[in-house]
Amino acid sequence: MAKSKAVTQFVCCECGASSPRWLGKCPSCGKFNTMVEELVKPAENKSERKAVYGGRARPLSEIKFENYNRTSSGMSEFDNVLGGGIVTGSLVLIGGDPGIGKSTLLTQIASHLSNDRKVLYFSAEESCSQVKLRTERLNLNPDRLLIINETCIDCLESELDGVEFCIIDSIQAVYTDDLSSSAGSVGQVRECASKLMRIAKGRGITFFIVGHVTKEGALAGPKVLEHIMDTVLYFEGENQENFRILRSVKNRFGNVQEVGVFEMTGEGIIPVTDYSGVFLSESRGEEPGSAVTPAQTGARCMNVEIQTLIAKTSFGVPRRMPLGIDYNKLVLLIAVLEKRCGLALSSSDVYVNAMGGIKLSEPSCDLAVCSALASAYYGKPIDKYTAVFGEVGLTGEVRAVSYCEKRVSECVKMGFKKVLVPAKNMKSVLKYADKIAVVPILYVNTMIKNLFKD
Ligand SMILES: Nc1ncnc2c1ncn2[C@@H]1O[C@H](COP(=O)(O)OP(=O)(O)O)[C@@H](O)[C@H]1O
Ligand SMILES: [Mg+2]
Repeated sequence: MAKSKAVTQFVCCECGASSPRWLGKCPSCGKFNTMVEELVKPAENKSERKAVYGGRARPLSEIKFENYNRTSSGMSEFDNVLGGGIVTGSLVLIGGDPGIGKSTLLTQIASHLSNDRKVLYFSAEESCSQVKLRTERLNLNPDRLLIINETCIDCLESELDGVEFCIIDSIQAVYTDDLSSSAGSVGQVRECASKLMRIAKGRGITFFIVGHVTKEGALAGPKVLEHIMDTVLYFEGENQENFRILRSVKNRFGNVQEVGVFEMTGEGIIPVTDYSGVFLSESRGEEPGSAVTPAQTGARCMNVEIQTLIAKTSFGVPRRMPLGIDYNKLVLLIAVLEKRCGLALSSSDVYVNAMGGIKLSEPSCDLAVCSALASAYYGKPIDKYTAVFGEVGLTGEVRAVSYCEKRVSECVKMGFKKVLVPAKNMKSVLKYADKIAVVPILYVNTMIKNLFKD
């Protein structure tokens, strides 16, 4: 029987104005391209409305802990990023550029899980035989993995009997019959995701949802989905390099700074346990412009190299190009170096890169960026086994940072010989003084004096 078409309207994402048909310009706020198709839901009868979470207000002491049921994905690196395993009934979004390896990673996880669970791979992008070809290439034998090649999300529900894990590859390729807009539009992506959420919460099925990120924004990016998801992971890396970083940007069941490091090989994606090859270069210490900082990401501390290049600007306005650190932060640090330490950078282009494609958002890497820039400026390399960390303030003072002990102990473990720490953190790391030279730094100037002028 043909389903009666649901009533839809177009709603402006900016101001909420609605219209029965699509308009390029919102008549209410005047913004362009903001009208998104949505389902019109009939108003509920108030007397029939039931409270969603079962009613009355209670004291907090009466609330019982919910024990999250976690399952291992078979890859400890992936479990870590999720906060210790896959939580039953959660929605996990895996975003990333096309071709980065999202399908590969999820195929591997699905085949591991299908050993003793019922797993469904809802492939909207690739045919069943393409997925099979991939499992053969990766030497997986997921005989019990269920696969369906379909694009209509409304067909999914009837296939879910007994299924515990479901992979949707990808959210941009699926559509629901309720909306007339094409697959991948903001309205479709949002409606499909909320359907999946209702299924996940209602039936306790865990969903892994693949979302492509495009630079042009032609497809609705995973950004519009983030608030619906329990966990949002980004799979990143340079396409030509083999290393991939899985980052958690939202997690209702764990730490959001957690990262996992993987390597893309012919046999699939394998977790990396020795990071030194990923975040530190072979030639560090030979050329000026690089500094190493122990960065804390989630529960883990790892040494990351920051490389900088200072070049004479060929145009009137100097360029500042940071990769892996915030643009505004770089501009601020350059201003501090100019004003407080007398480095003339106003007519130079400055490029900064955190090795391995990692994103450093911590303030503790400030001092390392400054020392890498000073090293490039003076043309003097920093010793291979010297690490630097500390937050830099506008007055040029170096502030204390968290996890100081852990950072120093990581440097000791990696065989470093000297570490520059904020003077205010000195007390907590005195016990390492016999294993590594710990130098207290009170001002950025002190760092420059210690590294380049002694
Ligand atoms: N036949 C193949 N042999 C070796 N590597 C392959 C093959 N097919 C795909 N790959 C690798 O896998 C990557 C694509 O992974 P995939 O999981 O399909 O990406 P995504 O799902 O994120 O778009 C490609 O970038 C390529 O490096
Ligand atoms: Mg894919």
